[in-house]
Amino acid sequence: MNIDKAFGLITPSQVNDYEPEVKNAMEMLHRGTGKGGDFLGWLHLPSSIKETELEDIEKTANRLRQCKVVVVIGIGGSYLGTKAVVEALSPGFDLLLTNRKNPVMLYAGHLIGEDYLSELCEILAGETFGIINISKSGTTTEPAIAFRVLKKLLEENIGKESSKEYIVAITDKTRGALRTLADKEGYKTFVIPDDVGGRFSVLTPCGLLPVAVAGVNIRDLVKGAADMEIATDEKIAFTDNIAAIYAATRNALYAAGKKIEILANYHPKLHYIGEWWKQLYGESEGKDGKGIFPASVDFTTDLHSMGQWIQDGERTIFETVISVENPTFNLTVPEEAEDLDGLNYLSGKRIDYINKMAELGTQMAHVEGSVPNLKITIPELSAYYIGQLLYFFEKACGISGYLLGVNPFDQPGVEAYKKNMFTLLQKPGY
Ligand code: PA5
Repeated sequence: MNIDKAFGLITPSQVNDYEPEVKNAMEMLHRGTGKGGDFLGWLHLPSSIKETELEDIEKTANRLRQCKVVVVIGIGGSYLGTKAVVEALSPGFDLLLTNRKNPVMLYAGHLIGEDYLSELCEILAGETFGIINISKSGTTTEPAIAFRVLKKLLEENIGKESSKEYIVAITDKTRGALRTLADKEGYKTFVIPDDVGGRFSVLTPCGLLPVAVAGVNIRDLVKGAADMEIATDEKIAFTDNIAAIYAATRNALYAAGKKIEILANYHPKLHYIGEWWKQLYGESEGKDGKGIFPASVDFTTDLHSMGQWIQDGERTIFETVISVENPTFNLTVPEEAEDLDGLNYLSGKRIDYINKMAELGTQMAHVEGSVPNLKITIPELSAYYIGQLLYFFEKACGISGYLLGVNPFDQPGVEAYKKNMFTLLQKPGY
């Protein structure tokens, strides 16, 4: 984590001034004395996952991996963590392979789309496919609709009894419609702990089972998160604690008028990390009339669309860049005898070197354009470092929410549209 390029609008001492407040926030997190103190199950999750839990997840994943296609049903916190990890760590174009090592992961219940579900059913007609149905409450409309449709299809495809082998439910331990249904039908189930909210649930079975099905090494993912749990513990000094520094810096920038944070990546596989991060920070901090608006961009592509606004629009933004130090592959620009495209000045150069120069040039331009810049570097795209990144953002989010003075673990605002929708749909009781 490097915050040097945030200085200008704010100073190092303005960040350091947050040290006592961060200490206070850490205490609230670690003692459970702050707002939302009964939703802190994520805090020590990486270090407390039991071997038997991992084995159960891996065993179930191996059963589902026999299917060509596995559909993950879930929305918000029950979807984005999985999608983020699977996209970050899966081979880019293996959908086109005929001899795939991993099942094709498809998603449903993350939207309401008649055409989407119809096309999904069309493609799965006659197939033996897996379903992982994730809903903590068990009552969320979008996944409930998708599950009803896909369950019926699977039962038609292979029969009701056989379908039970391929359906896994991840939900509350005792409550909710999905728990009742799963127990009645005899589905394999996993539990989302009571004290872990959706957006903090990626390291529960909610994220671990589907990512294991997709072929991700969940032990490395958890190990990375566990190491970050140690690195961001309350015992780590403020100046060495990157979660504390990130939380303090973004709050200092917010206080100085930067109301929007854009999370930028230079690696297409990180797109959904940005989507997951937006929910984590947006839902945790956007309340009581406060909160940084989290946005995300994929560079360099968005430099050709949003670049103008970022460089030159209203000066209310700061930028946090996730940089991947080492690419997995090695590809250079080929030499061409005629050099008609004028690109020979780059021949022999690695594509990643050019990407890094774009990254540096963009940082220089944005800082010059009054966009303070924070940089998070991960050595490589691997399960271990993605695990670190996820936990880092979670811990920083908890601290940051308390610095802002909100309850980072509730989401009262998301109920408003549901009430209207249920009234319009004439749901009993509304
Ligand atoms: O963070 C949250 O609370 C939400 O995004 C929920 O995860 C989302 O609404 C899905 O809820 P559920 O898992 O209960 O279906």
